[in-house]
Amino acid sequence: MGYSVLYNDDCMKALKKIESSSINLIVTDPPYNLGNFMKSRDTNLHKMRDNFFATAGWDNMNFDEWIKSMEMFFCEAARVMKKGGAVIIFMSVMKVESIVKIAEKYGFYYKTTGIWHKKNPMPRNMNLHFVNSTEAWIYFTYKTKTGVFNNNGCILHDFIETSVIPKSERKFGKHPTQKPEGLIYHFVKILSNPKDTILDPFMGSGTTGVVAKKLDRNFTGIELDKNYFSIARKRIEE
Ligand SMILES: C[S@@+](CC[C@H](N)C(=O)[O-])C[C@H]1O[C@@H](n2cnc3c(N)ncnc32)[C@H](O)[C@@H]1O
Repeated sequence: MGYSVLYNDDCMKALKKIESSSINLIVTDPPYNLGNFMKSRDTNLHKMRDNFFATAGWDNMNFDEWIKSMEMFFCEAARVMKKGGAVIIFMSVMKVESIVKIAEKYGFYYKTTGIWHKKNPMPRNMNLHFVNSTEAWIYFTYKTKTGVFNNNGCILHDFIETSVIPKSERKFGKHPTQKPEGLIYHFVKILSNPKDTILDPFMGSGTTGVVAKKLDRNFTGIELDKNYFSIARKRIEE
């Protein structure tokens, strides 16, 4: 089984401890820079408090600060990535273009923008607007135009649909934007091989690490928040 290295730290610091050219695949889900935007909307925050990322506290930078933080992330990502490695970064549809621009500046080759559709999203304000049920993911390769792509001869669409998290994936505690294991499994299986090293510098509750371990990949994970880090550690250990 693969090994895991976990840092409870700011990824802008911890990334510097990772060896250059050592990572095969990054699967990550950073702040989407929607916190301030959502706070300024006329929504009922009290009802949403427990599961609303705008109040979670990690997504409250202004746009320029966020762009700077994404620049720092891609700059370090370029250093730690192996040539031919890949990145899957989840993002809000509104911010995809900004991320593509930054990634290209640091040598990443833009491949695809895809959609994750949640079959059973929280029906917030369902009588007022279209219920939000999608997030984007962006796929890059590093310094090459192709990389590992284990499609086994199947046509793979740029669209994936899952249910939101089952209870069994939350038994060590809740994270407000936890991704389902099935979603992450899809990317780790297709874009890496056993014994490869996977990195998630914004690991939250550790979903990427859980999947990496199940698929016999090595994992490096970083999370700033002490409580989410503790959930991630327990999930990955188990
Ligand atoms: C969208 S969540 C990731 C959720 C994760 N995919 C999961 O399945 O649980 C983003 C996470 O990044 C963390 N974070 C934000 N800024 C960070 C930083 N500079 N360094 C490390 N972690 C950070 C937040 O605390 C949050 O848990």
